[in-house]
Amino acid sequence: MDFFKDTTDDTWEKLRADCRHCMDCELGKTRHSLVFGVGCESADVMFIGEGPGEQEDLQGEPFVGPAGKLLDTMLELIDLDRSKVYIANIVKCRPPRNRDPLPDEQAACMPWLTRQIDLVDPKILVFLGRIAAMAFIKPDFRITREHGQWFDVGGRRAMAIYHPSALLRDPGKRPETFVDLKTLQREIKNLYD
Ligand code: URA
Repeated sequence: MDFFKDTTDDTWEKLRADCRHCMDCELGKTRHSLVFGVGCESADVMFIGEGPGEQEDLQGEPFVGPAGKLLDTMLELIDLDRSKVYIANIVKCRPPRNRDPLPDEQAACMPWLTRQIDLVDPKILVFLGRIAAMAFIKPDFRITREHGQWFDVGGRRAMAIYHPSALLRDPGKRPETFVDLKTLQREIKNLYD
C-alpha cells in the first residue's frame, strides 16, 4: 500500500477542512464527533490507536476515556505527555459498541491518517495494539510475539505495543509493556544524542 505518497502541498487547514464532514464509510452515520487527532503537529513521536470509544466520540479527542488515562500514565513513565507527541487513530469515528473497525472502514479512513503522518513527519511511529500494527506493519502481525520490536514503516522507526485497553483487561501484560516503553525512551533519547 502506498502510505507515503507525495503530499508536499498539503496543510493542516486543508486536511481539517477536507476531513471535517467525511461520510466515506458507514461510521459517519452514527458518530457524535469526528475524532481528528491531538498533540504536537511537528512531534518526533506519533501514537496510533484503533478508533474512538464512547468518551472520545462524546469529547472529540482521542484517548480521553479509561484507556486514555492509562495511556497518559504510560507516557509519563517515559517523560512524555500529550503536548510532546501526536495521537491519532486508524479510524476517526467510533465503531458501534466499540467493535473492531472493519477493513473497508479502515481503508476509507486511511488517506486522512497518512496525510496526518506526512504533515507531522514523525521520526518514530508507535502503534497501540494489533489493529494498528496490522494496518501498517504487516497483515499477519502478532502482537503477543512482536510487540516491542522495531520495524521500518515508510522510512520511519516503528514499534507496536499492547493497546492500553488490553492492559486494563489484563494487567499481567504491563511489565512487558514497561520494557517496550523503556526501549522507546532509549530510541527517543538517541534522536537527540
Ligand atoms: N481506543 C483507541 O484505540 N483509541 C481511542 O481514541 C480510544 C480508545
